[in-house]
Amino acid sequence: MDPRLVILSRGPGLYSTKQLARAAEEAGWAVRIIDPLKLTVLVDDEGGRIYYKGWPLECEAVIPRIGHSITRRGVHVVRQFERMGVIVINSSSGIARSRDKLVACQLMTEADVPVPITANVGAWEDTIRAVNQVGGTPCVIKSNEGTHGSGVFLAHTEQQARQLVYQMLERDMRPLVQEYIQESHGKDIRALVVGGKVVAAMRRRAHGSEFRSNFHLGGSVESVDISPRFEEIACTAASKLGLDLAGVDMLESSNGPLVLEVNSSPGLEGIESVVGEGLVAGEVAKLLNRRLEESQAESGIPSSEDVTEMHRESSKARD
Ligand SMILES: Nc1ncnc2c1ncn2[C@@H]1O[C@H](COP(=O)(O)OP(=O)(O)O)[C@@H](O)[C@H]1O
Ligand SMILES: [Mg+2]
Repeated sequence: MDPRLVILSRGPGLYSTKQLARAAEEAGWAVRIIDPLKLTVLVDDEGGRIYYKGWPLECEAVIPRIGHSITRRGVHVVRQFERMGVIVINSSSGIARSRDKLVACQLMTEADVPVPITANVGAWEDTIRAVNQVGGTPCVIKSNEGTHGSGVFLAHTEQQARQLVYQMLERDMRPLVQEYIQESHGKDIRALVVGGKVVAAMRRRAHGSEFRSNFHLGGSVESVDISPRFEEIACTAASKLGLDLAGVDMLESSNGPLVLEVNSSPGLEGIESVVGEGLVAGEVAKLLNRRLEESQAESGIPSSEDVTEMHRESSKARD
């Protein structure tokens, strides 16, 4: 029987979901795409279960593609798959860490990964102090949990910074005040790390006078050869956060790379338009196969190579 893969995704028609499914099928997996919100999680003292539409859901591996709006629910589901011994790319803790920009910054500095100076402001009265700590204005004000550039602003004056922080606090958002890396205005580097290796990279450029270079805001993408230092930093960041598959965003500062954030469900459309359709998804499929062999070796199930070898040995014995 082919090994079974479940891709947890609310968008079966999305480019990334389709490419991941296709690459895994080509690598010998039986693939299902399932909406994580439709799953029922049962917790008991025997490891628990997951049900889908009345049936227990069984599989050897899961790729969670958890959108920001369903992080909490998605993390619960992935944790349950882990508990059941299923291979997960990425882990529940990796996803949770990557969704909190402050936690990600804290972990990265622990691993000596350089990040822009960042403050999480709890009261608007502390804004000016924080702005001064990050090098004054202009500075970046962003929501701790934002995505696709939607909660990211450039404050040109202290007054603007204070207003933005005040408005975010009023909406129960957690505002970050961050050092603005002027020399990287409107561009950044996205490196795709799969299984501890950078498999693809691109430079993203913002549209017009925009300073955020997100693909979703109409940014353009181009190929780039990144230096070993950028590769090393991207891999350390992904590994410190506990992510097998990560999109690491880096700014090119005059003092070298700075990691902005690490995405645990990186989109594949932009990057594959630069490095070739199916390339990143293909690397994810190879990683799935490696993980499956490792877990079979641990549980004593012979791999396909072992079976061939045993067959050869027994034929020799008969001869
Ligand atoms: N401190 C900064 N200095 C310069 N540009 C920044 C800074 N922070 C963010 N940007 C720009 O804004 C974009 C979005 O910021 P990011 O923190 O990655 O938020 P999101 O999670 O919404 O993508 C980045 O890709 C980068 O182009
Ligand atoms: Mg980003």
